Amino acid sequence: MLLQRDAQGQPIAIRREDYSAPAFWIDTVDLTFDLDPAKTRVLNRMQLRRNPDAPAQPLRLDGDELNLARVLVNGQGASFRMEGDQLVIDGLPDAFELEIFTTCCPIKNTKLMGLFVSEDTFFTQCEAEGFRRITYFLDRPDVMAMYTVTLRANKAAYPVLLSNGNLVEQGELPEGRHFAKWVDPFKKPCYLFALVAGKLVAREQRITARNGKEHLLQVYVRAGDLDKTEHAMNSLVNSVLWDEARFGLPLDLDRFMIVATSDFNMGAMENKGLNIFNTKYVLANQATATDADYSNIESVVGHEYFHNWSGDRVTCRDWFQLSLKEGLTVFRDQEFSQDLCADASARAVKRIEDVRVLRTAQFPEDAGPMAHPVRPDSYIEISNFYTVTIYEKGAEVVRMMQTLVGRKGFEKGITLYFERHDGQAVTCDDFAQAIADANPDSELSRLLPQFKRWYSQAGTPRLAAHGVYDAQNRSYTLSIVQSCLPTPGQATKEPFVIPVNIGLLDASGRELPMQLEGEEHITHGTRTLVLSRAGEQITFVGLDAPPVPSILRGFSAPVILDFEYTDAQLLTLLANDPDPFNRWEAGQRLGLRAALQGIAALATDTTPVLNDAYIDAMRSVLRNPKLDAAFKELVLTLPSETYIAEQLDVVDPQRVHLVRDAMRAQLATALFSDWQQVYEENHDTGAYTPDPTSSGRRALAGMALNFLCLAARSSGDTVWPGKTLQRFKDAGNMTDRFNALNALVSSGHTLAAQALARFHAIFKDEALVIDKWFSLQAGAPDRGGDILPLVKQLMKHPDFSIKNPNRARSVIFSYCSANPGAFHRPDAAGYVFWSERVIELDAINPQVAARLARALDRWSKLAEPYRSAAREAIARVAAKPDLSKDTHEVVTRALAGN
Ligand code: TRP
Ligand code: ZN
Repeated sequence: MLLQRDAQGQPIAIRREDYSAPAFWIDTVDLTFDLDPAKTRVLNRMQLRRNPDAPAQPLRLDGDELNLARVLVNGQGASFRMEGDQLVIDGLPDAFELEIFTTCCPIKNTKLMGLFVSEDTFFTQCEAEGFRRITYFLDRPDVMAMYTVTLRANKAAYPVLLSNGNLVEQGELPEGRHFAKWVDPFKKPCYLFALVAGKLVAREQRITARNGKEHLLQVYVRAGDLDKTEHAMNSLVNSVLWDEARFGLPLDLDRFMIVATSDFNMGAMENKGLNIFNTKYVLANQATATDADYSNIESVVGHEYFHNWSGDRVTCRDWFQLSLKEGLTVFRDQEFSQDLCADASARAVKRIEDVRVLRTAQFPEDAGPMAHPVRPDSYIEISNFYTVTIYEKGAEVVRMMQTLVGRKGFEKGITLYFERHDGQAVTCDDFAQAIADANPDSELSRLLPQFKRWYSQAGTPRLAAHGVYDAQNRSYTLSIVQSCLPTPGQATKEPFVIPVNIGLLDASGRELPMQLEGEEHITHGTRTLVLSRAGEQITFVGLDAPPVPSILRGFSAPVILDFEYTDAQLLTLLANDPDPFNRWEAGQRLGLRAALQGIAALATDTTPVLNDAYIDAMRSVLRNPKLDAAFKELVLTLPSETYIAEQLDVVDPQRVHLVRDAMRAQLATALFSDWQQVYEENHDTGAYTPDPTSSGRRALAGMALNFLCLAARSSGDTVWPGKTLQRFKDAGNMTDRFNALNALVSSGHTLAAQALARFHAIFKDEALVIDKWFSLQAGAPDRGGDILPLVKQLMKHPDFSIKNPNRARSVIFSYCSANPGAFHRPDAAGYVFWSERVIELDAINPQVAARLARALDRWSKLAEPYRSAAREAIARVAAKPDLSKDTHEVVTRALAGN
């Protein structure tokens, strides 16, 4: 591995094509920790052997912020040298024991990578390159070893001592100390190592697998939080059962542990047998957590559990292959959540939510300066590549494979993948090959090399579709041209393989039978067309009238579809499409169309943005007894400001904000009596359960309350704000309470202040609820520039701490990344605030700083004066000396973009 800075001290990019196998393998690792917050001693005894297949090279071990005390080779003091952060040893035999003794300082570890202390408990985070902050090591995922770990600590302060695998021994030590020894029965890369030590309690559950084997499941939290672990445990049980039932993948450990910490850079981490979680994705009871929290917990618990196979048993050869485990595991957690749904409507709701994330976060990433392929070609700091492209687009690539080989074929492919590669560190190519090999007669097999362009080419493909009806031949020809804009480092793109699910409706909305030109048989329902050329024509025959095409059903590929639907066609799809995704999508297209017209017209025109047909259609949706509440709530949610902005070449964020606000105000007043009725019919959901049906009703009732308070704002009505305050006080669960609070805050009602104060008083000891309290205020609609001063005020609140990532996110990110109307100020004060916070955070926690740095990714699309001011703010950050690699990479790429 090369040193990571050049002669000028600038970070050097790591390139995928430079991959070479390691010069040595590490077979066993025996770690002994003497845990002490100020000075933890780490003894690392390893068995190494030279890799016979690699060129002879010295051993180069990675380290970071370690104090090195001793190096022994086969028990003898060895000569070594330091090259930057690497410990280099020459002249080693082919096989040997290496013993390294180091110390580190967990209490000063604000980066939260390696060994750190959170609320008097020790935790580790090693992915991607944190293990080198614990001991010198070959810190790369293709070096897989067997681990034995002994933890020693003061027993009163750290009664629970956990690591990967099985507990084989524990006992007392002199001076009030004790020890525990853990052996992991599986070899693993060092990024999956974990330890936890502290005062924790566990909810436990035993489950019996299909083969009759018993397993112990544990969820560890701080003593006061045990009453918030039931849902996480249920989610874990469901995950174990699901992976066995759907993919035949069993739990391979006697004991499986989850531990929650309130100081964590990301959501959670899949360390073998010892998953470590952000408390946000573990703790829930009905008083403190919303329906969205419950659903996120289910997904994240599933996600980390599914990594036990997709990531841990089969891991990545190098970090360029990150999506091998992340894309696949997101796909698996999405399927898990869908399979837990009782009906097709709830499944569709989950699909729509996932696509919304993809389109509002990943599409902009793919169009911006950080655009990268699902399998990147280079990086400066790998932490910056834990992105929506790797995760969510990666999941879509896996989903397209399933579409191309069918659900059963995909299950066969997964089985082959794990048979072939168990215990190995492999590549995205290996995965695609296994799915194709298990399905030799599939379109995936036929088109595999081309399909893999989804791994190598960045950018979102665009489909331009155009339909022509031929009355004489009773045929309809759809021409589809695909294209993809250049991305940084990739000037031209080759055509992708794109599965397009399609159906045809008649003008009254009935599904038409389908027959392609040259085919003998008629088919019914959805068909998958597989596009692979730059332009294609598909002719449907036997049609008595021009059909309404329902294209890209279920969002069968991560592409942008352009089709000149008339408003009438979209209204037909919205009212009738049997595919719920496209039914929702038709409503989004209508809303987007109105928004774009409103934005273009605003300078001269003050007529309402939404026409009567749209309002009537929304009313019909609300009144339709056949549609679920959750689905209605999604249809009535207008496209986000971020999504609208992406459709524009030049973005005036204030104008986007104003128009969307106007649309919301119009929906509020035009549908006032419907909102009242919707609220009355849906607000009582009985005893709390977080299932899709009752959470859908709470979501719709919450939306109604929001619109009712918004309408009250213009009419001066005080009844609904009063009712909302009462609702806030009486609510039996956090979802209803928070929705009521949100309705008061976002309508800017004077009652909001007392509700906020009361909310804080009730939940002052619940960190995750206080995060919501901060986040709601920092993300509230701006009125005359009042949010930035409020944000600055909130940062002075005694509960605020920039060192806690959840708290920093709740205030700073809620403002900079999730409140465009407040952040993009004509006076540039939002950008100045952003640059100061990026620099401040960078000195504390580079990963969190680099995430925040991405808030201005799309600066070059902004209209003046925003564009120049944003660029200046980024340049100010980039000019700061001693920036972390993380932040340096983000801001230099942003400036290079345009
Ligand atoms: N592998 C983790 C997941 O997706 C991601 C993760 C957790 C992570 N913590 C991290 C990545 C810290 C980088 C740094 O489940
Ligand atoms: Zn993951």
